[in-house]
Amino acid sequence: MNKIYKNILVTGGMGYIGSHTAIQLANLNYQVVLFDNLSNSKKDVINRINKLASKEVSFVFGDVTDTGNLVETIKKYQIDSVIHFAGLKAVGESNIYPIDYFKNNISGTISLIDAMNITGVKTLIFSSSATVYGEPQYLPIDELHGLGSMNPYGRTKLHIEELLNDISNSDSEWKIICLRYFNPVGAHESGLIGEDPKDLPNNLMPIIAKVAKKELPSVRVFGNDYDTIDGTGVRDYIHVEDLASGHIAALKFLSTEIGIHFFNLGTGMGFSVLEIINAYKDISKMDIPYEFFPRRKGDVASCYADTKKAYEQLHWEVKYNLEDMCRTSWKFVQENSKT
Ligand code: WQD
Repeated sequence: MNKIYKNILVTGGMGYIGSHTAIQLANLNYQVVLFDNLSNSKKDVINRINKLASKEVSFVFGDVTDTGNLVETIKKYQIDSVIHFAGLKAVGESNIYPIDYFKNNISGTISLIDAMNITGVKTLIFSSSATVYGEPQYLPIDELHGLGSMNPYGRTKLHIEELLNDISNSDSEWKIICLRYFNPVGAHESGLIGEDPKDLPNNLMPIIAKVAKKELPSVRVFGNDYDTIDGTGVRDYIHVEDLASGHIAALKFLSTEIGIHFFNLGTGMGFSVLEIINAYKDISKMDIPYEFFPRRKGDVASCYADTKKAYEQLHWEVKYNLEDMCRTSWKFVQENSKT
């Protein structure tokens, strides 16, 4: 029986991908409630979201490990489905503080599932990651590729997917989608929201942006001896707006489908570190010095998505190209340097 979703709880909704998804949801007339502990986002984001969204988005301060607050919020806003972004996501940090990652990511998800069971809300979209595929055995990577992980962050994503699979097998009322992101980059066209981590970024494009802004002296390129087009690492960079629209497509899919489903969200194209640096230079017109360093622990040479399943079943495809990714990232970085 078809289910029309109206009131969406977005955990971690004040973060990078959550905030962009919230705006797209609101612009499609969904009632959106962001549930966030502000551990990696600023309170002002809600004002920026509401400047850009055509419908008021609500914000509830809370931690997903607080089941009581989740139950209260779900009841108060008559939530009928949940998009779960909240979690720690820095690969390097997870090697140093694995217990924080297991506590936040896994215990947080268990707490959310408890709250959803208590309130009878059983539609969930989970923010997973291509990291669950581990070392690519073949490329492009499709959803049938083997699973394994190279770091505690990736292992939390993998364990959560397994937990959700068991929940789906135990209770047919659950409707679940795990979206496996490749490399999210870029920002909203307005320049008002974008990737704005509280401390030093770990990912390539925000680091390139800081070098372009002269906040960092140069980009450390981790390895130039991989078996790739120019020896540097190749990844599937996807614009955050395309990622956000993938969540909308997933929500629509669950209005008619049951059970648990897994989809890659990527472009299907891989770019090397040097190609990204050169693309950013072309857009920003800024010098972007770089130096070659030894390979980073846990890195793979190449990783990019087979996007057929999401295209065919979610009727979803990307609209933004590499130039858009660099242009919107640079605009956000410049806009924010003025504040
Ligand atoms: C990209 C490429 C690096 C920084 C991780 C997570 C993934 C997702 C995205 C959360 C690699 C190279 C990087 C630098 C460099 N995270 N690089 N110098 O490792 O592909 O994916 O972030 O959703 O789950 O696994 O992303 O941006 O760190 O690296 O040379 O200073 O850039 O070696 O080839 P990664 P990344």
